[in-house]
Amino acid sequence: MTTSIPAAAPPHRPLRDMTTEEIVGTGRPHRLTYHDGTSRTVLVTDLETSFPTGELIVSQTDTDGVITMCNEAFVLMSGWSRAELLGSPHAILRHPDMPRAAFADLWATVGSGRRWSGYVKNLRRDGGFYWVYATVIPKIRAGVILGHTSVRRQPSRRRVEAAEALYATMRSEENDASRVQP
Ligand SMILES: Cc1cc2nc3c(=O)[nH]c(=O)nc-3n(C[C@H](O)[C@H](O)[C@H](O)COP(=O)(O)O)c2cc1C
Repeated sequence: MTTSIPAAAPPHRPLRDMTTEEIVGTGRPHRLTYHDGTSRTVLVTDLETSFPTGELIVSQTDTDGVITMCNEAFVLMSGWSRAELLGSPHAILRHPDMPRAAFADLWATVGSGRRWSGYVKNLRRDGGFYWVYATVIPKIRAGVILGHTSVRRQPSRRRVEAAEALYATMRSEENDASRVQP
């Protein structure tokens, strides 16, 4: 039996809209709405950055998913500076191609004290993206969840292609579900 420490106020640093000056190439605008009701515009390109072979991308968060630690590979792959990342919600990396259900599953799993693994397409600061195979591990002490650690490995191309197809189907179902019936 595990319990979560109640969300610590005040909330994290708000996420701001991406600007054309900071991205590489021409970005397609998407309006993302986050679980807390806040939203921002992201600009998305088709430029992929390959996962650095042999590296691990590591970060830690509090119980709300606000970043409290990250390694150098995380800084390099995300394109954000360490100062920008620390104190920001992990959703700073959310890519519009990721279905909501993937993150709902992540939070339900770690919230019940179990580790979650899955394929994640992440948005870079420059509008590009990178795929990871992530394992998110809750840090539990005396039955209390204190925070979470995520360790990402290089995903195989075959698995990434399978995830792309699955997530496209999941996204279209989510869009159908949120569409207002006439
Ligand atoms: C330890 C940890 C690592 C996470 N890593 C990522 C990540 O790399 N990319 C991502 O989009 N979301 C990641 N998330 C999920 C985000 O917190 C968030 O749920 C997701 O981006 C969707 O945003 P939303 O829940 O505000 O709608 C992570 C969560 C935790 C607890």
